[in-house]
Amino acid sequence: MKRNYISGNINELSVDSIVWFVSEFKNLTDKNLKALDTCTNGALQHIVETEEFSGKNGETAVLLKPDCFKSQKIILLGVGDKKNLTHDSFRKACGILSRKKSLTQSKSVLFYFDNFEEAAYFQGAIEGYILGSFKLLDYKSGESKKSKNKLSRFTFAVDNKRLLRRLETAVEKGITIAEGQVLVRTLGLTPSNYFTPKDFAAKAQELAKKYKFKCRILDENAIVKEKMGALLAVAKGSDEPPRFIIMEYNGGRKGTAPIVLVGKGVTFDSGGISLKPGLNMHEMKGDMCGAGVVLGAISTAARLGVKQNIVALIPTTENMPSGHATKPGDIHVSRKGLTIENINTDAEGRLILADALDYANKFNPQAVIDVATLTGATLYILGYAGAPIMGNNQKLLDRIMDASDNTAEKTWPLPIWDEHREQMKSSIADLVNSGGRPAGTIAAAAFLENFIGDWPWAHIDIAYVDVEPAGSAYTPKGITGIGMRLLVDVLENWKKL
Ligand code: BES
Ligand code: MN
Ligand code: ZN
Repeated sequence: MKRNYISGNINELSVDSIVWFVSEFKNLTDKNLKALDTCTNGALQHIVETEEFSGKNGETAVLLKPDCFKSQKIILLGVGDKKNLTHDSFRKACGILSRKKSLTQSKSVLFYFDNFEEAAYFQGAIEGYILGSFKLLDYKSGESKKSKNKLSRFTFAVDNKRLLRRLETAVEKGITIAEGQVLVRTLGLTPSNYFTPKDFAAKAQELAKKYKFKCRILDENAIVKEKMGALLAVAKGSDEPPRFIIMEYNGGRKGTAPIVLVGKGVTFDSGGISLKPGLNMHEMKGDMCGAGVVLGAISTAARLGVKQNIVALIPTTENMPSGHATKPGDIHVSRKGLTIENINTDAEGRLILADALDYANKFNPQAVIDVATLTGATLYILGYAGAPIMGNNQKLLDRIMDASDNTAEKTWPLPIWDEHREQMKSSIADLVNSGGRPAGTIAAAAFLENFIGDWPWAHIDIAYVDVEPAGSAYTPKGITGIGMRLLVDVLENWKKL
């Protein structure tokens, strides 16, 4: 993506298209727009009068061959009501624009932030463009029939020279962050036969090398040595061996305790012997999105040079039925030593997270955040709109919700009460892995809570927010990659709890 940054006069630039951000208006009063109207011989005034364009979010109007501009055309892009503008207004508007032929048939584009000054708007705009133009993976034989995006040359412009540095910093950051989210989407969409636990480990090592952080892999023998009985119980049914991925990025002061991220990396969840129904089972290739988010977050933090010490842990396995598979009623001994009665082999995510959360103690963390597509019950709580969060530290939960405001990746807290803890007790072992249907999302967190150490902990259940069912402004139908921007924001704005 070739790009450059300018301030001042944009009339002399010969680009194919200028994208001109405009907030909602009723009459042409803005002086730059008035000047533009003169250059188009009143064409702008005309489309305003006919109410073809008023700057509503995502609305566009194309002005061809304007006088006094070297550009072939100007695309006015509405960002919506000025009073309610946020970074997400820009993300949405650019997401919608990113798929319009008026833009994708151009080779070069200039984004003109007329009258806008906030870094969050600049960042949101480029994130929206990259996320909105994300194309699903293509495994069709022969030449791709998908229409190609021709855009290769990007210029970003502000009116005032004093904004230039801010513009460049914000756009560069937005590109890095959007690329992190695109990585999560790509991994989540990759079929499980092309993305096994071994492939996951290889991907982590590739990114660690590229962005210069540490990465170690525990193979099945090392996992046995670590006594991760809960992870091994899930992995038993599969012909693909599990992996445990340990990544470390040290951007903070030496000796400062790390923030540990843990992600559920089930590369395919069939349910195991407690087999899932066939309908939509294929979507369970995305059951590693929590791990994808964690891998995306540590790579992005490393690229941005975030000044924190960060550890990312990924237990990764398939959950399969077979003659070797764990059976309902089996008892497992977790790494921590707590025994678990497996009453539903489809409640596998919490098993692999249990051992990973216990492993986090090795790093003497200042806080631990886990991310997982853990329970289908989230659909009946916040739906596709936001992710429930749970934990043991209000400040940490507040910090995550602040990050939601900064990134438009919504989260909302749920309690964990003694009644839920009771649900997870077994009559013959320390714990059961399923507390039945009531409060399924909370019950899962009440199970995880048994494996945490003496540190602040938050659990983010991204089941369903990992999926976009219909397609929206900057998220095509499929995997969203939600959680990545959120975690990066938490890490960037980290304060001691
Ligand atoms: N990976 C699923 C959760 C899930 C379901 C994510 C649908 C996204 C969409 C998880 O492993 C699972 O199967 N959870 C069970 C737990 C139950 C057996 C206690 C569930 O939610 O039904
Ligand atoms: Mn499951
Ligand atoms: Zn699962």
